[in-house]
Amino acid sequence: MLTNLPHIDPERCTGCGFCISVCPDHTLALVAGCAQVRGESCMACGHCQAACPTRAIEIEGLQVDLGFHHIDEKEGWLAPGSGDAAQLVQLLRSRRSVRSYREKPVPLSLLMDLVKIGTTAPSGTNSQTWTFTLLPNRQEVVRLGALTAAFFHRLNKKAASPLWRLAARICAGDSLGRYYRRHYQTVRQGLADWDEAGEDHLFHGAPAAILVGGGEQASCPAEDALLATGNILIGAHALGLSTCLIGFVVEAMRHDCRIGKNLGIGAAEKIYAVIAVGYGRESYQRPAGRKKAVVRCLQGAENGDSARQE
Ligand SMILES: Cc1cc2nc3c(=O)[nH]c(=O)nc-3n(C[C@H](O)[C@H](O)[C@H](O)COP(=O)(O)O)c2cc1C
Repeated sequence: MLTNLPHIDPERCTGCGFCISVCPDHTLALVAGCAQVRGESCMACGHCQAACPTRAIEIEGLQVDLGFHHIDEKEGWLAPGSGDAAQLVQLLRSRRSVRSYREKPVPLSLLMDLVKIGTTAPSGTNSQTWTFTLLPNRQEVVRLGALTAAFFHRLNKKAASPLWRLAARICAGDSLGRYYRRHYQTVRQGLADWDEAGEDHLFHGAPAAILVGGGEQASCPAEDALLATGNILIGAHALGLSTCLIGFVVEAMRHDCRIGKNLGIGAAEKIYAVIAVGYGRESYQRPAGRKKAVVRCLQGAENGDSARQE
C-alpha cells in the first residue's frame, strides 16, 4: 500500500486540517500549524490534494488533469446536490445496448477518452490496476470474433455429444448440460451465420471494442473492472457513441487463455468485460422500462417519507 507519499508545501499550507480529516490512512498530521506526513502508509487516493484549499499538496504519479481530447472538462468539484440529477438520470436511462453499428470508424482519441472516463471509477484499496485493451478497428474486432467463434465451435461439438455431457456431469457438474439446453442452438445458428454469410451476431458489426481487465495483484479486480466499464458505457453515450457488452467473448476468454495470448494479454490478467463500441444505427423514442427491483428495507430504519409504501 506504500506509494508516493504526499508532498506538502509549507509555504502554502494554512494548517486548516482538511487534508487530515479526509485521509483514510492517517498519513497526515498537523505539526506546529502545518500539515506534515507522519504515517508511512498511503494509498494515493488523492483526497488530501483534492481537499486542500490552497493547492499545497502534490502527489507524484497522480494526474489531476486527465487531458481529455473531446471533452472540455469543467473545473472544480460538484458538491452533493449540486449536479443536475434529472439530466444524469436521463443520460443513464438513454444508454442502450446497441446491436447494429455503422461502418464509420471510431477515432482512437475517443477510445482514449473512454478509458479516462473508466479510470474515474472507484477501485478496491485504490489499486487502479485495471487494464484496457483497445481494438481500434473492425479488423481487430473480427480477429477476436474469429477466435471466439473457434472456441464456441469446439464447445458446441462437445455439448452436442451425450457422452461428453455425461462425462462432464460426472467430473464437473452440469454446466455443459446447462449450456446445451440454454445456448447450444442459438450459438450453432450464430456460428453458421458467421461462417457462411459473414453475419456478425457477436459484435453486431461494431468497428471497435474495449476489453476491460485486471491483474491478480488487486484486491477486487472484477469489481474494479466492472465499475470502470459502467462509467465507459455512460460516457460513450454522452460522447455520441453506442456500446454493447459482449458476454460471450468474456466467457470464451475465461475458458481459453490462448485468445488473450493472441491479443498480447498476459496469463496473469483476466478480462472481465468486452465492450463493442461504435456509431449505432438504432434510435429510440423513449427510455426502456425496468423490472421492479427486489428491495429490502430493514425494520427500524428512520424514514419520514412515503417511499416505503411503494
Ligand atoms: C454481463 C453482460 C453480458 C452481456 N452480454 C451480451 C452479449 O453477449 N450480447 C448482447 O447483444 N448483449 C449482451 N448484454 C446486453 C444485455 O442483453 C442488455 O444489457 C439488456 O438486454 C438490457 O438492455 P440495455 O442495456 O439496453 O438496458 C450483456 C449485458 C451484460 C450486463
